[in-house]
Amino acid sequence: MAYLLGMDIGTSSTRAIIINEKGKLIASATSDYPLITPRPGWAEQNPEDWWNASIEVIKKVINDSGIKANEIAAIGPSGQMHGSVFLDRQGNVLRPALLWCDQRTSSQCDEIYDIFGFEGFIKLSYNKALTGFTAPKILWLRENEPENYKKIYRILLPKDYIRYKLSGSYATEVSDASGTILMDIAKRNWSPAILDGLKINRDFLPDVFESADITARVCASAAGLTGLVEGTPIVGGAGDQAGGAVGSGIVKPGLLSDSLGTSGVVFSYSDTPAYDAQGRLHSFCHAVTGKWHLMGVTLSAAGSFKWYEDNFGPSEKIRQEHPDKKKYKLLDLQAEKVKPGSDGLIFLPYLTGERTPYADPYARGVFFGISYVHGQDHFVRSILEGVAFSQLDCLNLMDEAGIKSDKVVLFGGGAASTLWKQIIADVFDTRIVTLNVEEGPSYGGALLAGVGSGVYKSVQDAADKVIREKEEVLPVAANAGIYKKIYEIYKSLYKDLKDDFAKLAEV
Ligand code: XUL
Repeated sequence: MAYLLGMDIGTSSTRAIIINEKGKLIASATSDYPLITPRPGWAEQNPEDWWNASIEVIKKVINDSGIKANEIAAIGPSGQMHGSVFLDRQGNVLRPALLWCDQRTSSQCDEIYDIFGFEGFIKLSYNKALTGFTAPKILWLRENEPENYKKIYRILLPKDYIRYKLSGSYATEVSDASGTILMDIAKRNWSPAILDGLKINRDFLPDVFESADITARVCASAAGLTGLVEGTPIVGGAGDQAGGAVGSGIVKPGLLSDSLGTSGVVFSYSDTPAYDAQGRLHSFCHAVTGKWHLMGVTLSAAGSFKWYEDNFGPSEKIRQEHPDKKKYKLLDLQAEKVKPGSDGLIFLPYLTGERTPYADPYARGVFFGISYVHGQDHFVRSILEGVAFSQLDCLNLMDEAGIKSDKVVLFGGGAASTLWKQIIADVFDTRIVTLNVEEGPSYGGALLAGVGSGVYKSVQDAADKVIREKEEVLPVAANAGIYKKIYEIYKSLYKDLKDDFAKLAEV
């Protein structure tokens, strides 16, 4: 029996899993690290923290799995996208990595449009220039820390830095490289036109592989640190969204998913390199060889719920009613007490700006329509509903792009809430299905490792062999009717407040 090691270099932790070739989870381990926010809107991490966490979790999964390290057929890394790891010639990290949720690069995004024009840039990159993406981060470093810029030898994405530490080789793969917006998405390689226009040296960037290709092998020093066997192959892997999609079977035409993690992502497979002319959806290469995907991102999805939990927590009343229950379960019980529509309380989840459909770093969260009838329970339910409306915005853009499906596959932490699942089904007015596997990106990484090492014939073959639908949730017509009316108001709120968000940012 072959075993596969999948990794997810996430924003709050790194996770490693070992599965067998039948897809069964054999062992898993997670190690946390901090997020550094030196200024409001800035978000950084020390790549060394990811590496130390990787050593710890790899050692632990090998140990806990009871298998021998030489039974691991291959490793598939996945991880947070868009982060910029700047390395010098000796492979030292020059400064903390700027992360996907860092908002400091508005003026660099404007410069990108000044160079190519707004439409010109979308035609070249199939995407907008967003503050979270990698290219504006490189321009930021050149303008703000020229002494670090001068020392750059390579620029890597987070999981590609872990590949480098595991193997000594510089490489990336198509799905994660797409999020740099330095790619020719149709050709699945770096875009000479974008690199020339931005005056970024091609040599800073590693070669781009397909996600299931073998890109590197574990080196002797990493083998010593982790317990892996020297020479174990490392496949390309994937950005966390494409990796999560592989791990959830979104690898064929007609499939759509909604992942409710810190951010919420509506994701669709595409046979062709389709893109939205206004760049509202991200158009990236998929981790399925020779295929693409579209996605829309709500930056604060389960993140909004966590913010509420962290700051206000479950009410005293609900704690007393259910002394046996904890945190999110208690919040669910609070939200269940309120009717669909939260008696007219509407939440906009733009706590850290937004990406889809409004790429606006200045947007902020809003509770609209507060009255004397509203208590804590209403606020909790309106958060669940507001996030669902924001994900509906993304789903509607998929519809405009001609991508339709009679079901949405739901996964991520939020999918653990029975109430949230029902709210999503009602707001989308669509059938929701959940899956037998809930590992997301690390599971996708493991399946890609299986393809690269010949355990599976293709990514589709891997998904067919191991992923099954577990449960379905149908929309309730009466609830869907209420949500349709509220959604109309929800949509107009951003438009009404847009200018005020920008003014607020100046205060
Ligand atoms: C995708 C994105 C996030 C990060 C962190 O575009 O920004 O999914 O990859 O999870």
